[in-house]
Amino acid sequence: MDTLSLARFDRMLTLPSGERVRLRPIRPDDEPRLSELYDRSSRDTRYQRFFTVMRRLPPDWAHFLANVDYDRRLALVAEDVTAPTTRLIGVARYEPGGDDIAEIALVVEDAWQGKGVGTRLLTELFRAAAENGITRFRAFTLADNRRMLGLLARHADVIERRVERGVVEMLLAPKAYPPRTVSTGE
Ligand SMILES: CC(C)(COP(=O)(O)OP(=O)(O)OC[C@H]1O[C@@H](n2cnc3c(N)ncnc32)[C@H](O)[C@@H]1OP(=O)(O)O)[C@@H](O)C(=O)NCCC(=O)NCCS
Repeated sequence: MDTLSLARFDRMLTLPSGERVRLRPIRPDDEPRLSELYDRSSRDTRYQRFFTVMRRLPPDWAHFLANVDYDRRLALVAEDVTAPTTRLIGVARYEPGGDDIAEIALVVEDAWQGKGVGTRLLTELFRAAAENGITRFRAFTLADNRRMLGLLARHADVIERRVERGVVEMLLAPKAYPPRTVSTGE
């Protein structure tokens, strides 16, 4: 995606609660902020996101996750604009998953969950992916993660689904996300 198109994914959003957050593409300098977000996340959130609980996010993971090509690998982050320094409260990403399929992953900081941040991150990620020609996704979700399973089912058609050892693997086709032509300033 070119720089101009990418800039359209940098915008302020108003959540149903009235709180405002900034959504934007990830940047290399987010590397330490990803580690801080991991440090602030509960054991459950860490496990639901990575299927393992580590004491810290390994530095090479943080480096890899913060550095994307905005095409085959893309991540959007949500920022708490009221924090005194830049603070990430959520990340949505896709990574190459083979056969023109991208694998998606999402995380929202515990204190911000249930406020609509995950929904906005997911729908904007689908929109950005569509602009990069990606229309099929794979997701791995713990079978008891009702919030994530519900979120995906509401915003994508489930083409295939299988459960193995407590993990649901789904092949997904996002419902239509037409490109935004005008900035709403929302
Ligand atoms: C899954 C996750 C990303 C969702 O983000 P979020 O910001 O909490 O999601 P939202 O606030 O947009 O809510 C999504 C839906 O879940 C519903 N929901 C909210 N709280 C819920 C709860 N406690 N239990 C079940 N559903 C809930 C919301 O009503 C919403 O449904 P709607 O679309 O009908 O309104 C977030 O909870 C998270 O980071 N969880 C831990 C990591 C994880 O599970 N990642 C997914 C695997 S990669």
